[in-house]
Amino acid sequence: MDKPKVVLGVSGGIAAYKACELLRRLTESGHDVRVVPTASALHFVGEATWSALSGNPAGTEVWESVHEVPHVRIGQEAELVVVAPATADMLAKAAHGLADDLLTNTLLTARCPVVFAPAMHTEMWENQATQENVATLRRRGAIVIEPAVGRLTGVDTGKGRLPDPGEIFEVCRRVLARGAGQPTADLAGRHVVISAGGTREPLDPVRFLGNRSSGKQGYALARTAVARGARVTLVAANSELPDPAGADVVRVGTAVQMREAVLAAAADADAVVMAAAVADFRPAQYAEGKIKKRDGREPEPVALVRNPDILAEISADRARPGQVVVGFAAETDEVLANGRAKLARKGCDLLVVNEVGERKTFGSEENEAVVLGADGSETAVPHGPKESLADIVWDLVAPRLF
Ligand SMILES: Cc1cc2nc3c(=O)[nH]c(=O)nc-3n(C[C@H](O)[C@H](O)[C@H](O)COP(=O)(O)O)c2cc1C
Repeated sequence: MDKPKVVLGVSGGIAAYKACELLRRLTESGHDVRVVPTASALHFVGEATWSALSGNPAGTEVWESVHEVPHVRIGQEAELVVVAPATADMLAKAAHGLADDLLTNTLLTARCPVVFAPAMHTEMWENQATQENVATLRRRGAIVIEPAVGRLTGVDTGKGRLPDPGEIFEVCRRVLARGAGQPTADLAGRHVVISAGGTREPLDPVRFLGNRSSGKQGYALARTAVARGARVTLVAANSELPDPAGADVVRVGTAVQMREAVLAAAADADAVVMAAAVADFRPAQYAEGKIKKRDGREPEPVALVRNPDILAEISADRARPGQVVVGFAAETDEVLANGRAKLARKGCDLLVVNEVGERKTFGSEENEAVVLGADGSETAVPHGPKESLADIVWDLVAPRLF
């Protein structure tokens, strides 16, 4: 079988060297990658590197191998074009349809999904011209990944950093996995809030009540939503997973902190998906010093108090009309009956019910679930990667959006 053809466009930003890692991931996962750098990109990483790593020519101009008409053919044959890093200049050219080198020609001839991963100084990113170019590209169906916040070219930090190449690769993988016939950016223009991980409720400065949630399902929801064009806020509790490219990650520790962060982000959200394992209870008392073991004495019992029920609260009091609220129910027995009762109790639109246990779901790469709808619908999701379940959740959310 022919390998899927991917074009990796590289424009002239300092992060061009990170595209070598993205190229490696794409080739090692079985893609035929044609790197199309701009002339500026070659100031940062030379043609020999792109050509040797990809096994393909890596010219910048339309005047090379003219008999093969590369300015048309490369775009036509691609199943995905990803531009990483995308400079402010490249976003402007793409938004205005300029075609003065091989990459800009390729962008005009591509009929496949196109992903841009911009990277630049914060001022360039926030400039109204850049923002309007990004909005234009998104409106036309391109996936433009929000840059990360962090160290920039010099000593300065801010928004504009290229996300981790491994995470850009994940977005590409998700876009390719959606395949032909499915809309790429069906969540474009939408803001979705996702909670992930497990809250920790401190007993004293060194101990907490926690749970086994790894955050993988919530992170998979964030990645798939980015790959479908959404603006994503990920409220993550105690997860060590890398930040998904393009998601705005808000880190929290406890259920009370999670409530605050989710309510703040949900104010303008089209959908809220509560995938986090939020502790139902927390210790009534927090000991300022470490609780000591006292010779010959039994420990004091730990009194618990209820935590806020975030899912019920946002379901009952929607921040905007038509906001879609999705909950997750982790059950150990009577899975479906308990799920139906929980859906009715919480008042959310969809409830993803899965069975959990020491070796099931928590921390695993795979999941199996039934998605119950408040309208009586029931969607069985067979055993598979957490990203497949995530895509099914978005398939069910998308038509419910106002
Ligand atoms: C050291 C250096 C670093 C640069 N880094 C960036 C960058 O990260 N993002 C960006 O948009 N432009 C950056 N530029 C400016 C671009 O290289 C310049 O706009 C160029 O015209 C882009 O051409 P291209 O879009 O055809 O690749 C940088 C320039 C220099 C000299």
